[in-house]
Amino acid sequence: MDHGQTGENVQDNVHARPEEKLTRERANTYIKQHRHEVNPAYRLEYHLMPEVGWMNDPNGFIYYHGAYHLFYQYYPYAPVWGPMHWGHAVSHDLVKWDHMPVALAPDQTYDSGGCFSGSAIIKDGKLVLMYTGHVVTGPDKDHDYQQTQNIAESNNGVDFVKSLQNPVIDLNQIPAHTSAKDFRDPKVFERNGMYYTVLGSNDTAGKGAVLLYRSADLQQWSYVNVLAQSDGTLGDNWECPDLFILDDRDVLIMSPQRMPAQGDNYRNLHSTVYMMGTLNEDQGVLEYEQYYPLDYGFDFYAPQTMEDAQGRRIMVAWMETWETDIPTQSSHKWAGAMTLPRQLLRRGERLIFQPLPEIKQYRMEGIQRNHIRMVGGEYDLGVSGDRYELHAVFKAEEARQFGLKLRIGEGEETVISYDVEQRRLCLDREHAGQGPGGERAAAVELRDGKLELHIFVDISSIEVFIQQGEQVMTARIYPGPNSTGIKAFSSGVCTLVELCKWDLRVQD
Ligand code: FRU
Repeated sequence: MDHGQTGENVQDNVHARPEEKLTRERANTYIKQHRHEVNPAYRLEYHLMPEVGWMNDPNGFIYYHGAYHLFYQYYPYAPVWGPMHWGHAVSHDLVKWDHMPVALAPDQTYDSGGCFSGSAIIKDGKLVLMYTGHVVTGPDKDHDYQQTQNIAESNNGVDFVKSLQNPVIDLNQIPAHTSAKDFRDPKVFERNGMYYTVLGSNDTAGKGAVLLYRSADLQQWSYVNVLAQSDGTLGDNWECPDLFILDDRDVLIMSPQRMPAQGDNYRNLHSTVYMMGTLNEDQGVLEYEQYYPLDYGFDFYAPQTMEDAQGRRIMVAWMETWETDIPTQSSHKWAGAMTLPRQLLRRGERLIFQPLPEIKQYRMEGIQRNHIRMVGGEYDLGVSGDRYELHAVFKAEEARQFGLKLRIGEGEETVISYDVEQRRLCLDREHAGQGPGGERAAAVELRDGKLELHIFVDISSIEVFIQQGEQVMTARIYPGPNSTGIKAFSSGVCTLVELCKWDLRVQD
């Protein structure tokens, strides 16, 4: 697909590409027979990942019948992208997940190339999934395809039946001057007694766009308008839009493809952004002024949000990036994971990102260090680990640079450093271990001369919440099992005012 979809280069190696019809039963049987074969080396402790095979975007994130449901783009048969199914997991606390049977398989003519991304809504007590049916229409699968929107329903949140009226949004409902191919990832929501869905697309001339549709019953849909469109700086196709109200403002999040970098921001091949404004419901236009990154790291894509029973707006994203080398794709038999769910809060025109308090119940062996005065060089903090939560507060004082080195081992380290003069926080995974290296940075201001970091390390991932969630940097890292060291460092005088560390244990 010309949207840079790929595992695509690896997709060509799908030796397991089945000749038989891809049904849910077949997928579930395969998973049962093969899930024990995954290599445990880089399996995460407290993040959702596939039992076996490939995972990408979060889909259908919702609270239903007293539990959190998270579906995801799934190809069980190999650790590469393939004809998409919807995997399904359920949780009571958004930390510990139970795997459920596959919810959707590409078993209809209108979704034969894959059940692509989508969302969930509750209607008359039923759980309704809305997703994109992908169909390959010619010899060049990257260019010859069509996409329509479809629904499936369940009474119990486990077994889903596709509607006989599918597609519910067909090709003839694509407006003029809009891509006839890239028409996907419906995020459905209800407002003032009507259902709406936003869809990712482009204007065929290199500008990503989001389309808005309206329905009274989820079956009959009518096109409303182009909700938002790239001004030329925001990539050539938009994927996975999500529109929601947060604290009286309308927020659009989406994943622009091939967005050009702006300084330290948007350095990945495909990015994620949010804009905050006001939805003009009559015209179906989002009025906004600015846009901002959702994450400043390497591996964060296709985020989706839900509102839970406590009224929290919670976001989860695919903790990977397209077209990178994922070490578990070679012989580990699995690839892809979800980020930690993050609560979104509003401060002025910006979003704040918070880890959820539910994770605290899994803390073990808390260790605290206070007022470590550093005059330069490295300081062993006498703590170590490979799956933990770390809270650190630095006072910059005279230092030019300071930070933390994590997952330290023979020739390996993952470095978080703050440059006082440049006011820039850098995450460096060049020597983290296997897999891609490089660094990402974010402009960060000290507060009262202090930098506060809240870090989650989980075997093959790191998420750094900066200054109480003003920014977050997410990355996959693949250090060896013995790389467990933790050190602080500085050049010049500064104080590590506080360091707390807890191991996190979720698996029995
Ligand atoms: C985003 C995406 C979606 C699509 C899905 C296919 O990562 O490209 O636009 O629905 O992945 O797996």
